[in-house]
Amino acid sequence: MNERETLKINGKGHLELGGADCVELAEKFGTPLYLFDEAYIRKMMRVYRDTLEKQYGGNGLVLYASKAFSCKAIYRIADEENIGVDVVSGGELYTALQAGFPAEKIYMHGNNKLDYEIGEALDAGIGCIVADAYSEIDKIDAESAKRGICQKILLRINPGVEAHTHAFVQTATTDSKFGFSVADGTAEAVTAYAMKKNNVRLEGYHCHIGSQIFEKESFVIAVEKCMDFAADMREKLGFELKTLNLGGGYGVWYTDEDRKIPAEGYAEYIEALLEKVKEKAKEKEMRLPYLLIEPGRSIVGEAGVTLYTVGRIKDIPGVKKYVAIDGGMFDNPRYALYESKYTPVLANRAAEEPTEIVTIAGKCCESGDIIAANVALPKAETGDILAVLSTGAYNYSMAMNYNRNMIPPCVLVSQGQAEYIVLPQSYADLTRNDVIPARLKKKTK
Ligand code: LLP
Repeated sequence: MNERETLKINGKGHLELGGADCVELAEKFGTPLYLFDEAYIRKMMRVYRDTLEKQYGGNGLVLYASKAFSCKAIYRIADEENIGVDVVSGGELYTALQAGFPAEKIYMHGNNKLDYEIGEALDAGIGCIVADAYSEIDKIDAESAKRGICQKILLRINPGVEAHTHAFVQTATTDSKFGFSVADGTAEAVTAYAMKKNNVRLEGYHCHIGSQIFEKESFVIAVEKCMDFAADMREKLGFELKTLNLGGGYGVWYTDEDRKIPAEGYAEYIEALLEKVKEKAKEKEMRLPYLLIEPGRSIVGEAGVTLYTVGRIKDIPGVKKYVAIDGGMFDNPRYALYESKYTPVLANRAAEEPTEIVTIAGKCCESGDIIAANVALPKAETGDILAVLSTGAYNYSMAMNYNRNMIPPCVLVSQGQAEYIVLPQSYADLTRNDVIPARLKKKTK
């Protein structure tokens, strides 16, 4: 295994994350277990924040896209690092508020925000709602009027950029459920519409082209298209762009097929965007907009490792060797959803060279319940601790209770210390909301 920013192999040949021995953590907290390295998360937040500060005079805000990993502790870290967050549901909003996150630094997204979610956002006094439909603008306007406020909004526009990533995580192609299309004139029409509302204040635009994207070019083209569109709206409608939100989407390392970008290297993405914003503003004689970026995966992804215990091993001679673990698609559905690739290592034998090709299978009753297909490992034995790297983003946040498996707890590691930030579920948690109607109650004889 190559050592990496968050990971080391210690003198015992064990994998270490953020200075803590993963084998000891597995013993202490049990498996499956999600681990997060706090130092890396903070470092990533600072890289983005400091880049905006230094290269753009702080005329903007980093929003952590909390869908990547949402729990109370992560909102505390974001708050301590002086950044904002984006939320996409009442549940994320509630979690952020419960953690004491300042409402004015919360932005809310979603292609189908429910009426009660809009109400909750307005009641909380969140900074901005990113609107994605005409009727949503009507709703925000009406509810704001009832409350005697004027809500800041951005419009989610679709600039029509095809980024190189999995189709399911592309969001700015013509056929997308997100955003008002620039190409077909909808984005212009809705700008005119929103400008006329009394209780919403249109601040500008938002675009997010997709996720797990490495090419700077795609992001830069999106900036160009948004700025051209904004200049056009000033010309046609007299609309002055105040705020531009460029979304997130920066790729992370999962396997050696991916580029490995050191934490500081992510500054280059932001610098490329800022350069284009400045160039376009000059060309079009526009004021520099307040700039928002929304990285999620790149903040928490490489900070995370999931630990499992190796269970049954099934060798089908000439076909495949399955190494089964005590987790699966219920804690990481990304292979099942996107055929995502991961790098597993044996945490208790991290210094050993791989000797065979195996497939890591979960424990769910489903053939597609795979964590990593055809990966190289030393000969795994029942009882080994298997670590899957780069699982900090979209693993816990997409976990489920399929087959009534319990969602693993999350532990935050900081300078060798480890603490729960999400407690383990119990069987009682699984049945907590189950109700047996009286007519189905077991009859006592
Ligand atoms: N902003 C908006 C409006 C988004 O929709 C997203 C991600 C982000 C920011 C953050 O993007 P990031 O920096 O994390 O790439 N479940 C999928 C990823 C879905 C991403 C959804 N939107 C996965 O596991 O790959």
